[in-house]
Amino acid sequence: MSILVTGGTGYIGSHTCVELLQAGYDVIIVDNLSNSKAAVLNRIKAITGQQPGFYQLDIRDRDKLDKVFAENRIEAVIHFAGLKAVGESVALPLAYYHNNITGTLVLCELMAQYGVKQLVFSSSATVYGVPERIPLGEDCGRSATNPYGRTKLMIEDILSDLYAADPAWGIALLRYFNPIGAHESGNIGEDPHDIPNNLMPYITQVAIGKRDKLSIFGNDYDTPDGTGVRDFIHVVDLAKGHLKALEKVLVSPGVTAYNLGTGQGYSVLELVRAFEQATGRPIPYVITGRRPGDIGICYADTTRAKAELGWVAEKNIEDMCKDAWNWQINNPQGYRDGM
Ligand code: NAD
Ligand code: WQD
Repeated sequence: MSILVTGGTGYIGSHTCVELLQAGYDVIIVDNLSNSKAAVLNRIKAITGQQPGFYQLDIRDRDKLDKVFAENRIEAVIHFAGLKAVGESVALPLAYYHNNITGTLVLCELMAQYGVKQLVFSSSATVYGVPERIPLGEDCGRSATNPYGRTKLMIEDILSDLYAADPAWGIALLRYFNPIGAHESGNIGEDPHDIPNNLMPYITQVAIGKRDKLSIFGNDYDTPDGTGVRDFIHVVDLAKGHLKALEKVLVSPGVTAYNLGTGQGYSVLELVRAFEQATGRPIPYVITGRRPGDIGICYADTTRAKAELGWVAEKNIEDMCKDAWNWQINNPQGYRDGM
């Protein structure tokens, strides 16, 4: 029996595949490589000694995805595949709706057809929109301010409807906060194609000299130092959360949302300082205006994941910074160096 991982060569997917393989699961990855490289597969093998099964396909291609279910005994699915850039989603809403929503519909139809009803889905703290309260509990109101966020909201609703129609499904909606860092081996990590949208990859590119300085988007938020506060979580902790959620959906039907964060907020400036301290590299920065759509504070109440999944984040901000930097210096060109 295998675990099917959609989007498994991506940033969070690759780290989760490593944890799955190390825990003894057989893994089949499907990915269209629209935002990742096949070289990731060799890196996963370098860490685990095992090469996961791999199909290069778009999950919207029903015939190709059907073949994967027909050729393998799939026990459960972890569904990462999707587009994730907030700004791009505003410019290209149809591409986002088609990729994220249609992709999930085709996947779930095939799962139902093959009697595979255990699903772990990559949702996001973005579904909380402007936070109703801090820390954010899973019961907080949901809303979206951009098409990307709306796809996550819609998929959460679609999956809830699916469970309502057929209570044999076991579905975990994992709401990630801000994943950063990389595997401690330095073999896999985040590999943005273009100018990074997110804070940590921007910081590591400044540290390595690829970019002059960081722009900090606003220091007039209602936070201790005025810069935005986020719940940064080490990607390996996040990956481990998927294994806990998988164990849960394999034994208990239902549809449940879980926050995956540390429960602690750090400001942008605190992260910059922590990075400088952990790595000894200076991060020059300028304060610029707020980024449209940003919120001031966002961090998780992680009580439910602890109580129901037995999961808590174990790595601290120093680990996140050290591992992000280790990945960057070992792979100055990302995966583009071909291995
Ligand atoms: P990523 O882009 O590194 O990984 C996604 C993978 O899915 C990529 O390898 C891409 O090639 C693949 N993919 C995209 N569309 C596909 C399709 N139609 N068919 C097959 N493969 C497809 O992103 P990530 O950071 O690893 O994020 C994984 C998931 O987690 C996404 O759904 C994302 O929305 C969600 N998420 C990410 C974050 C974050 O900050 N990274 C936060 C919250 C939620
Ligand atoms: C963090 C903080 C920025 C870059 C996004 C998505 C969210 C989720 C995770 C997928 C903010 C500040 C950033 C920079 C900066 N993804 N910043 N300079 O916005 O919390 O969340 O990624 O689901 O949906 O919105 O993460 O890393 O972009 O920003 O000052 O160059 O860093 O303003 O306060 P965000 P981020």
